[in-house]
Amino acid sequence: MRLPEFPWDTLAGAKSIAAAHPRGLVDLSVGSPVDPTPELLQRALREATDAHGYPTNWGTPEVRRAIVEWFARVRGVPGLADEHVLVTVGSKELVAGLPLQLGLGEGDAVVHPAVAYPTYDIGARIARARPVPADDPDDWPAETRLVWVNSPSNPTGAVLGVDALRRVVRAARGRGVVVASDECYALLPWEVDEAPSILDPRVTDGDLTGLLAVYSLSKQSNLAGYRAAFVAGDPGVVQRVLAVRKHLGLMAPTPVQHALAVALGDDAHVAEQRERYRARRARLLPALRGRGFDVESEAGLYLWATDGSDALTQVDALARLGILVAPGTFYGDDRHVRVALTASDDAIAEAAARLAGPGAGA
Ligand SMILES: Cc1ncc(COP(=O)(O)O)c(C=O)c1O
Repeated sequence: MRLPEFPWDTLAGAKSIAAAHPRGLVDLSVGSPVDPTPELLQRALREATDAHGYPTNWGTPEVRRAIVEWFARVRGVPGLADEHVLVTVGSKELVAGLPLQLGLGEGDAVVHPAVAYPTYDIGARIARARPVPADDPDDWPAETRLVWVNSPSNPTGAVLGVDALRRVVRAARGRGVVVASDECYALLPWEVDEAPSILDPRVTDGDLTGLLAVYSLSKQSNLAGYRAAFVAGDPGVVQRVLAVRKHLGLMAPTPVQHALAVALGDDAHVAEQRERYRARRARLLPALRGRGFDVESEAGLYLWATDGSDALTQVDALARLGILVAPGTFYGDDRHVRVALTASDDAIAEAAARLAGPGAGA
């Protein structure tokens, strides 16, 4: 199996150009949180440091209950039970491992959004299945077994509403296809009222067959270093995946499971973090537009921007301002760049000032 080079490793050239800027590098190329883990969650981790036994793969009873209650309270998905949910070690391992854990292989197709987080493609390749970029169910090949949707999208920020999700679910149901919906930016809506879950009864009509929602606390709770995430949905699929994960030894550490449970019970820190990103977005977005970029961003942590030129040309031009961004080529689009909101207030202000100033032209 041949895997592509890790995309961010290819940014070294642009990074050294940006780092040579006299006022230093502003790195907006990755979505790694920069704000402190809330004290409440650091305390929760410390409370659980006596962890002499092996963790549970499924999730402790405490964390399973917290996930069930969170879906009902925050995501409008009542009626889940322990059998519907499963803790994961961050969500990237699940995204990369799900095709294999579902038993997919040669001859199967895994559909993912046309412009997408690259790990959906990697997960298909690791299972020796065929990755197929397609947004329209009419374009799914006959051998499709798993479909990824990602709303709000990394990188475009686009949100799928109830009707769009219903269309995916209806198309999948007739064919026994599993739909996995990656929803980790759902609580960062900017230009939409909501980013509904695939498990929302308005989408499912109460039937969860074949449906999974994937969620992570990395971004909403500044917990990326803890590796705290979960998946929920069709109990048949969840329990099948759990059985494989037990053999693989994929289990979140017990202290992390406790911190995850505490995080899910507290909406205040999520709202506080959302307001930080709202303020950063409000500075950066007009600065990009002022410099001639078209910018899309309905929701989530990224601005999806283009000045109409080739993505790598845009990356280089911004690097000459000392601003590092990710080319759309990482996601299957060669005319956009992805600009992350995950930088300190000072760094975002500095980026906005450079975009407004003369500098090396974009
Ligand atoms: C769309 C999407 N899914 C999944 C992940 C993985 O997040 P984590 O492994 O931190 O839970 C990311 C991280 O950037 C992402 O953007």
